[in-house]
Amino acid sequence: MSRTFETVGVVGLGTMGAGIAEVFARAGLAVVGVEVDAQALERGRGHVLRSTDRAVSRGRLSEAGRDEILGRIAFTGSLDDLRDADLVIEAIPEVMEYKRALFTDLDLVCKPEAVLATNTSSLSVTAIASFTARPGQVVGMHFFNPAPVMRLVEVVRTVATAGGVAEDVAELARRVGKTPVTVGDRAGFVVNRLLLGYLNHAASLLELGVASRDDIDAAMRLGAGLPMGPFALLDLIGLDVSHEVCEVLFEESRDRVHAPAPILRELVTAGLLGRKSGRGFHAHEGASEAEAAAGGTLPGSVCVIGEGADRLVSELSAAGVKAADAQEADVVLVLSSTPVVEHAARLPRPERLVGLHLVGECVAEVVSTVLTSAEAAGAAGEVVRALGRTPVASADRAGFVVNALLYPYLNDAVRMYDSGYASAPDIDAAMRLGCGYPAGPFETLEAVGLATVRDGLRALYAEYREPSFAPAPLLDRLVTAGVTRVEDRG
Ligand SMILES: NC(=O)c1ccc[n+]([C@@H]2O[C@H](COP(=O)([O-])OP(=O)(O)OC[C@H]3O[C@@H](n4cnc5c(N)ncnc54)[C@H](O)[C@@H]3O)[C@@H](O)[C@H]2O)c1
Repeated sequence: MSRTFETVGVVGLGTMGAGIAEVFARAGLAVVGVEVDAQALERGRGHVLRSTDRAVSRGRLSEAGRDEILGRIAFTGSLDDLRDADLVIEAIPEVMEYKRALFTDLDLVCKPEAVLATNTSSLSVTAIASFTARPGQVVGMHFFNPAPVMRLVEVVRTVATAGGVAEDVAELARRVGKTPVTVGDRAGFVVNRLLLGYLNHAASLLELGVASRDDIDAAMRLGAGLPMGPFALLDLIGLDVSHEVCEVLFEESRDRVHAPAPILRELVTAGLLGRKSGRGFHAHEGASEAEAAAGGTLPGSVCVIGEGADRLVSELSAAGVKAADAQEADVVLVLSSTPVVEHAARLPRPERLVGLHLVGECVAEVVSTVLTSAEAAGAAGEVVRALGRTPVASADRAGFVVNALLYPYLNDAVRMYDSGYASAPDIDAAMRLGCGYPAGPFETLEAVGLATVRDGLRALYAEYREPSFAPAPLLDRLVTAGVTRVEDRG
């Protein structure tokens, strides 16, 4: 028979714990919220008050509803008040020694049948379970920030978790309005493992000089349709937290893509932690930054080469830019998703050649080769603006910016699925709900086309020789077999 959870304890009422307490109280459960001392308890109560007051002022909650929610939470400084709890969720700082001390105490205080859960983002749930005499009743319950808003909960079962426990916790998550995804205990679970790999890779592309911070952010936001660019998101998560999660991922995977990019360490050491310290990759809180350099001037004439050239020429003539042949034109644009330097090498005055890769409806990557002049690159940027798109300056490297970041992320998702860690629909749901992505990696993979991504990965591997860019063997086999979906989701 499955367990019933009526009283839930939350230990640590900081950023996460206060939100988690609110989630359960909103769903009608009795909550016991525990903090270290009276001052921290007041702070925790303040978090819940502000959050529920905000909901009232936005018309999402009545004043009576808010009072009921608050009435369901007993705020206390004593762990002893958890003796009747059916489930206790720990949300104290991410330090293993703190968790060890707490779980040792919880094990003594809580009734024998109570389930103990940790909200840890990166520590081993298995290790935390081993601090208790009830490892069979310990799971991860990983909420996302802000907990009252974000629907995803990763429920983590370890090799020691007893049958039925993770299922019951997942059912509880559903009951309080969340979407659970149940996974095993691997560093980063689904979301942080896929997300931090991608964010770290963006930092590496910046260090390699493939594109600037703002161009990479614009490319992923406007080109790939993500809610935020990678550097804006790293600043939001906190560079110290991001660095630490990468370290933990690398510790387990030994995969170089998880080894924190040196620029992360440098910024953290300098105390530039992102939004919380006012500056990280970007300056925040009113600190002004130089505007992106103004573009060049629209060229008198352009020559467009490559697939889709005719359409682009007619769009350009509508925008007042004349077409000319390759000998005469001020700028030669090569429409391409692969490096363009070989075209430049064949051209008289190769400094006029610029690659152009149209991404989605809003962005065009403007690709400079080692031969491209600054004037030609600037003029090509103006051409892109005249087309109503945002130009993203990129070096002439495989994948340019968007595909170089997107394809390895999709490849990681295929490898994760192939390892049996999670199903394709669960990975999709985790990335959609945990990161606010418009589509999960498998939905994106199938929309772009498995063969296109496989071929793009091959090119990336050939360029960077990064082992994890080589197409996952499963992706290769699916393409060879002519399969267009990764898993039958019928
Ligand atoms: N912040 C996030 O975005 C996020 C997202 C998911 C998971 N997490 C994880 O959630 C956990 C908490 O993170 P946070 O950002 O809410 O931290 P936080 O620092 O905002 O809050 C931690 C709270 O725990 C309290 N505390 C410390 N020791 C305690 C003890 N022994 N007993 C009771 N209370 C204690 C502190 O007073 C503080 O209020 C960490 O494991 C973190 O990795 C954080």
